[in-house]
Amino acid sequence: MTSLVLQGMSRRFGGLFAVRELSLEVPSGKVTGLIGPNGAGKSTVVNLIAGLLKLDAGSVVLDGQDISMLPPHRIAAAGIARTFQNIRLLKEASVLDNVMSGMHLHDRTTLIERLMGSRKVRRQELEFADQARGLLARFGMAEYAHRLAGELSYGHQRRVEIMRALAARPLVLLLDEPVAGMNDVESADLARIFRSLAQEGVAVLLIEHNMPFVAGLCDHIHVLSSGELIASGPADSALRDPRVIEAYLGT
Ligand SMILES: Nc1ncnc2c1ncn2[C@@H]1O[C@H](COP(=O)(O)OP(=O)(O)OP(=O)(O)O)[C@@H](O)[C@H]1O
Ligand SMILES: [Mg+2]
Repeated sequence: MTSLVLQGMSRRFGGLFAVRELSLEVPSGKVTGLIGPNGAGKSTVVNLIAGLLKLDAGSVVLDGQDISMLPPHRIAAAGIARTFQNIRLLKEASVLDNVMSGMHLHDRTTLIERLMGSRKVRRQELEFADQARGLLARFGMAEYAHRLAGELSYGHQRRVEIMRALAARPLVLLLDEPVAGMNDVESADLARIFRSLAQEGVAVLLIEHNMPFVAGLCDHIHVLSSGELIASGPADSALRDPRVIEAYLGT
């Protein structure tokens, strides 16, 4: 079973620690929450795991292998997919193309074959489109396949981001505020999907400010404040921890 382990992860900006000696585990089959006030270091953690930022100290271990020195594309190839807090889609491309762009890791064609437009390329294209449509159906967006991503509502754009991440068939899914700006019905739909992904064996790390959402979904949560882990445990007990209450009231 997959598990992602952060060991003593630290990162500074200027003289200040954005993340300090953070150790935690994101196990497969579970939804792990990472919460904390604004500026606590949550997105920095995701960027460090994904290789967009380099660690100053510590390591990121996936299934026993230290991946912290790898470039972002190799980390993605190792099975880690993420969404961005600030949505990053190809706004002028269709929803289907955006989702399919997440599949390039599984491209089995060569440059020559693509230039020649070989049958193998067309077959793979159909296969990828099929898989993308499967994701669209799962996210209730089948009828949006040919809409431009930039024309969609915020909530739908977030779903496209999540589908693109899933298109890579990741072992680990890092979600940076995936339900921000969604209503309760939309976020409940996504909670069910995240739960079922965990049941399929994905290791899910969820960053979220909506506490009822976190408490209802996460098996285990970790609370960051000023870059440091101040509490860990099942959501109900971690959220009652006096240090956690103080961290939130202080901001
Ligand atoms: N690229 C950067 N350069 C300099 N400082 C940065 C950079 N990225 C983040 N920081 C700082 O690191 C700290 C943690 O930021 P981060 O974005 O990780 O917080 P967060 O927990 O995701 O907050 P939010 O809930 O608002 O998204 C903040 O003080 C932020 O200003
Ligand atoms: Mg953030």
